[in-house]
Amino acid sequence: MRHLLDTTDFTLREIDDMIALAMDIIENKPKYAKACEGKKLATLFFEPSTRTRLSFEAAMLELGGSVLGFSEASSSSTAKGESVSDTIRTVSNYADIIAMRHPLEGAPYVAKKKTLVPLINAGDGGHAHPTQTLTDLLTIYREKGRFDKLTIGLCGDLKFGRTVHSLIKAMCRYQNIRFVLISPEELRLPDYIIRDVLAPSGAAYTEARTIEEAVPQLDILYMTRVQRERFASEEEYLKHKDAFILDLDKLQASKAELTIMHPLPRVNEIAEEVDDDPRAKYFEQALNGKYIRMALILTLLARREEVEQAPRETLFACGTCKNPHCISNFQRVPHLAGRSETDGAARCVYCESLIR
Ligand code: CP
Repeated sequence: MRHLLDTTDFTLREIDDMIALAMDIIENKPKYAKACEGKKLATLFFEPSTRTRLSFEAAMLELGGSVLGFSEASSSSTAKGESVSDTIRTVSNYADIIAMRHPLEGAPYVAKKKTLVPLINAGDGGHAHPTQTLTDLLTIYREKGRFDKLTIGLCGDLKFGRTVHSLIKAMCRYQNIRFVLISPEELRLPDYIIRDVLAPSGAAYTEARTIEEAVPQLDILYMTRVQRERFASEEEYLKHKDAFILDLDKLQASKAELTIMHPLPRVNEIAEEVDDDPRAKYFEQALNGKYIRMALILTLLARREEVEQAPRETLFACGTCKNPHCISNFQRVPHLAGRSETDGAARCVYCESLIR
């Protein structure tokens, strides 16, 4: 059975096939109206969401299937202390496919070990958000017609922004990609993404401290929200919340064909005056999220009988993970690590943090 925990769970060929399927869905909607008749999607959202949950549900309904689930942990037996393992083992008796969002990093790995049906990571803490990345890839494809030879500015909270981490991982697999990392010093991209993803891929990257200095060279400007819920204190959040606010003035020197993206929700990092500018594509991006999730549901259901690829690394027992948001520090799961092929470092199997 195939699952989606990270975009690298799919080969580039498989991603191309999924993009092609999404394009066919867009162009031939009636053809897919009964494609999932009799099938059920469970949406288990232990953390708030508008786009991801509702686009998954709209996707399944437009495929002729049905949906069940919950939109907050407090309305599930999590409130009584049930573990992710037990919840997933139970719900996989009721549904044909599961999309799960969880605040603890690595929760999808725990869920994958217990599920009886395909499992989709709909976001785990600050770690990964692969269906947002598939959404972003479909948007890039529709706007640019290619995945190579692009200069991508990533702006805002690059430390906690899981959409940014997943997008970098995905885009590093293509040729001639350049990143411009625009963030305050305190919200820089984590070192492990630079060391393990950017550096080995050979993708070029530079850092900038203002949007204006970066914008003339960009094909894509990917704005992100400062992630209030991931800061240790409200004071820390307030210090950074207005770090970057995109307005029309800051876009004056951009290429005419710049594509402005944002995973949304927006707080105040893009002024509303930008919304009607032809370069702004973030609401189209949200719509693309529904189409790519339709393609993902169809792909995983069709490949249910496939054997999952064996992990490339050998796992071994390790000490406590130092990531305070890792699921292994909250639920009864074995502390396990795997050794990276690129640098030989040991990483937590759940959240990928370095184990020292
Ligand atoms: N982009 C995204 O994940 O939005 P939601 O939090 O509304 O699902």
